[in-house]
Amino acid sequence: MRNVWMCGLLSLGLLLTACGDDDASKNNANNVNNANNANNQNNANNVIPMTGEELYMLPHVDGNTFACSTCHAITEPAGDGFIRPGHPIGDAAARPSYKNGAVADFRAAVNSCRVEWMNAPAYEEDDENWVMLRDFLSSQAPETAEALTFEIQPAPTAAELEGGDMEAGKEFFNTSCVVCHGVDAAGTERAPSLSGEFLDAELIGRRVRTSGKTTSTTYDGLTGGVMPFWAADRISDEQLQDVVAFLLQNEPPENNANNTNNVNNTNTNNANNNNGMRDCGTTHSKVGQTGAFSTFAHQVSGFATIVDDCTIELTNFFFDGQGINVQLYGALNGNYAGGFSMSEDLRQQGGYQDVTLRFQLPEDKTLDDLDGVSIWCVPVGASFGDTLLE
Ligand code: HEC
Ligand code: HEC
Repeated sequence: MRNVWMCGLLSLGLLLTACGDDDASKNNANNVNNANNANNQNNANNVIPMTGEELYMLPHVDGNTFACSTCHAITEPAGDGFIRPGHPIGDAAARPSYKNGAVADFRAAVNSCRVEWMNAPAYEEDDENWVMLRDFLSSQAPETAEALTFEIQPAPTAAELEGGDMEAGKEFFNTSCVVCHGVDAAGTERAPSLSGEFLDAELIGRRVRTSGKTTSTTYDGLTGGVMPFWAADRISDEQLQDVVAFLLQNEPPENNANNTNNVNNTNTNNANNNNGMRDCGTTHSKVGQTGAFSTFAHQVSGFATIVDDCTIELTNFFFDGQGINVQLYGALNGNYAGGFSMSEDLRQQGGYQDVTLRFQLPEDKTLDDLDGVSIWCVPVGASFGDTLLE
């Protein structure tokens, strides 16, 4: 089922290398880009410049696993029938203003998506890639177009999400959310599987209506995550009720390719097995600093404490063990995208329930290199939970 779906995506150009690969999460954005050129398939450093159309169709080398085409069709109904979170952008180059008037300039509008959803840096005006992407989108656009208006809805209450039809919800899910979460929410390299007890109606409603960086300068009222919000006219309240009804009874896939490879790796670094942990003194002024994880996804909670010059201990730690390549990251100023890993992939069947785990800094890092830690979903660049240590 999974591979059939992956192959289906080939026509979209979203996932050029994933077809027939059992673990799509191994294919990072670099490989996807390189797959455009058969000679370079295995060389992630030698990136072939992409055309404007490819910059629309494929993930960007300097970003996460999302492409513009993950979230925006050119026109609708889209050729593949999918209903993406963002509105179509075929006429966007000709619009007089963007983001409900908050942004006047086309490049600034695209940059807001690059920075807030794709975890990529903003394009400078003379950036070659910007020029190519702009020219491609301009070639799609008419002479003039009207500004788009859209409405970000507040997160609904549980009561407002009741009464949906699960069959209709499954159908809607498999033509919309499917772009990232996969068929029946089994998960892809763009977003985790969605099933199990941790899902509740309010969480689903909040993610659909108000997902996005809380630090957004473009949108008000977002509640975190790299999943995009769905404006009022992208999913109706009734469709959202249906999706909630579907997800609340959705069983985990029996053969989840995302989970198969990692179950055995996860014990190598943990506290139940102190072998292989180095001894590194307690001289640094940060020893003893601690913090409580804020929960963004997958039930992450607990505490992190610096116990010596190279070791972080997680206590009362909970995590449902799902996602797509999830690791403990350290960083300064919450910049986990520029941070470093302190663990193997943490996903495991059954998850973590109130456990104590220890992780060590890589040899080339010191406590000066972090002031916080995150349970970090690496391919997407999303924090499932993080905390400052103070
Ligand atoms: C993860 C999803 C996501 C990705 C990836 C993404 N966008 Fe967006 N984008 C949105 C959302 C949500 C909006 C808000 C407006 C809407 O609902 O269409 C938006 C708005 C826009 C707008 C402003 C529309 C308007 O007139 O107000 C433009 C232009 C745009 N995106 C272009 C792009 C381009 C080009 C890319 C690729 C470089 C891109 N986006 C990548 C989700 C995304
Ligand atoms: C552009 C990709 C994308 C699309 C489309 C998308 N999601 Fe997500 N979603 C994500 C990512 C990535 C995460 C995990 C990281 C985060 O929380 O931001 C996520 C997380 C979630 C979560 C939270 C899971 C948890 O463990 O807390 C829910 C619920 C969810 N999505 C529901 C939906 C529904 C319902 C739809 C369709 C209406 C949808 N998503 C469409 C990317 C997407």
